[in-house]
Amino acid sequence: MLYGADYNPEQWPEEIWPDDVARMREAGVTMVSLGIFSWARIQPREGEFDFGWLDRVIDLLHAGGIAVDLATATASPPPWASAAYPELLPRDADGSVFWPGSRQAYAPSSPVYRRLAGELVTAIAERYAGHPAVVMWHVNNEYGCHLHADYSDAARDAFRRWLADRYDDIGALNAAWGTDFWSQRYGSFDEILPPRKAPYSRNPGQVLDFKRFTNDMLLECYLMERDLIRAAGATQPITTNFMGAFEPADYRKWAEHVDVVSDDCYPDPNDPESFRTAAFSRDLMRSLKPGVPWLLMEQSTNALNWRPTNAPKAPGQMAALSAQAVGRGADGILFFQWRQSRAGAEKFHSAMLPHAGTDTRTWREVVDLGARLAALPGLPAPQPADARVAIVYDWENRWAAEGSDHPQNALDVTAVVQRWHRALHRRHVQVDLIPAERAGEYDLVIAPLLYLLRESDAAALTAFVDAGGHLVTGPFTDVVDEHDRFREGGFTTQLRGILGVDVEDFGALVAPDAPAAEPGERVAPFAGPFGDATGTLLAEELRVTDASIEASFTGGRLTGRPALTLREHGAGSARYLATIPDEAGTQALVDHLLTATGVEPVAVRLPEQVEAMRRGDVVTVVNHATGDVAVNLVGTDAATGAPVDGLTLAPYGWAMVRK
Ligand code: GLA
Repeated sequence: MLYGADYNPEQWPEEIWPDDVARMREAGVTMVSLGIFSWARIQPREGEFDFGWLDRVIDLLHAGGIAVDLATATASPPPWASAAYPELLPRDADGSVFWPGSRQAYAPSSPVYRRLAGELVTAIAERYAGHPAVVMWHVNNEYGCHLHADYSDAARDAFRRWLADRYDDIGALNAAWGTDFWSQRYGSFDEILPPRKAPYSRNPGQVLDFKRFTNDMLLECYLMERDLIRAAGATQPITTNFMGAFEPADYRKWAEHVDVVSDDCYPDPNDPESFRTAAFSRDLMRSLKPGVPWLLMEQSTNALNWRPTNAPKAPGQMAALSAQAVGRGADGILFFQWRQSRAGAEKFHSAMLPHAGTDTRTWREVVDLGARLAALPGLPAPQPADARVAIVYDWENRWAAEGSDHPQNALDVTAVVQRWHRALHRRHVQVDLIPAERAGEYDLVIAPLLYLLRESDAAALTAFVDAGGHLVTGPFTDVVDEHDRFREGGFTTQLRGILGVDVEDFGALVAPDAPAAEPGERVAPFAGPFGDATGTLLAEELRVTDASIEASFTGGRLTGRPALTLREHGAGSARYLATIPDEAGTQALVDHLLTATGVEPVAVRLPEQVEAMRRGDVVTVVNHATGDVAVNLVGTDAATGAPVDGLTLAPYGWAMVRK
């Protein structure tokens, strides 16, 4: 179990470093991520490297028994780079430059950025590939974090090349983008621009391909660095830190190329339900590389600096969220950062070693957690079979479904997926977040808002139901192909065989949070075996061809029409839901589905504020409630081996029990 933090020693005089190492040992730190923002110190001028200080700090850490996750330092080019090569600066859709003076001011597709980054990575990797302290490589940092897309001339040139590779022939691009609309037909790839600021709605195919391109440019930067590290002879695992359900990067594509998935996660202490959002991120990270433990690369020990209000964590909350990560598959708990900065934009951000010193609650909790994690024996790797339920979560679908000019323009795929996840989480059901092609590994698959549906995914969902799986899908599902075009034959063309349903109309409802003065229906009440529920945003008109009606709308313009259909198909079942249920409605549906499909939770008779999760034969329980909770688990304590026959968890208490 790794324990540690980002370590930024260059922010401190060298005399402090030995104290850092001594304190790290006291806290049980085993690994630090070093040099993430050190480009300016490692390479003070082009062609000139200064490794003396880095040699000394790595040797000091090594002598202290602290391993190093060595960064490639490419996330923040120093001022000399953009002064000499202003063309490496990124631009927004209006053409405004993102100037230096913060971090991440580089265009990912810029040839000069890539050249400079490559030279830096090679120099670092050649020097430290064989250093015994270096156990992992940390490429760049949070790719795309602040700069979600770049529209610069470098991006323009790269976008043209990317499109020429993808389509080969301009006629194929014209067909894919439907450019006969509004006289957008292109004569050559050289006429194409990124979707910069335009008078009115931009071509949806262009916008979708630009999202794919943006992802691919960031991924190319990562792959370039990874390959240079390997070319220098390094054999340690390589990672780059993800950010949960971050929109611009399709982490499923990335996960194939990292040796270990690592995640940065900052739940808001002011939000009493943020532990469920954190659980979602953990489940997503585990699902990205099935069967392989992941790392919580960054979290905070206490308050942040970047929310409007940066509340402290409650006593014990940091450890509870750490246990949650381990229980959901993490083999390392790390923080941003080791020692709180004394200057710069993050000086109020908490750290393992607070500016207020070691006589602090934060420090005591850091030391306690280090000891508790160190006492854990090796835990089993998360098993693909731990979860019997999956929710389909697909980045390209998200990009397309949230495009503009739709019947409903307030759709948030992640928010809907997270609502389903929360409802299952409250019932202590373990969930994976998967691409549709993996449906066959589960008993129950929920695929909400699967607007962009590839033929191969439709085939996988169909095979899943044929083989006895239970599918729940809709609304706004099976609407377009991978170019965001309608298919011939109406909607629901790929899944109507298993659903027995066609969608006639999407039936947009006014968003629940729209200004009060906006006229129109806001909710679509419906009722079924689960009782009464409320639908939002969409209330679709269905044509039921071969399915039974499980629930119907009970109010508004669709009164009496189907809201949820069910078709027993093959050995399984396929449900279509014509609306987006609110929180309570989603919960009612989940309860109904769990009963109907017989899916077992990880633990029974637990309050909703206690979460239970499975990692092989180890069940972790974490109490997020404000009072003591009795838990009826039986087994042995995963740390001590002592028998467990029921236990009581204090607020933020946690336990790991081997069944
Ligand atoms: C991100 C970055 C860190 C730091 C933290 C602050 O995760 O990777 O460098 O800025 O946020 O929360």
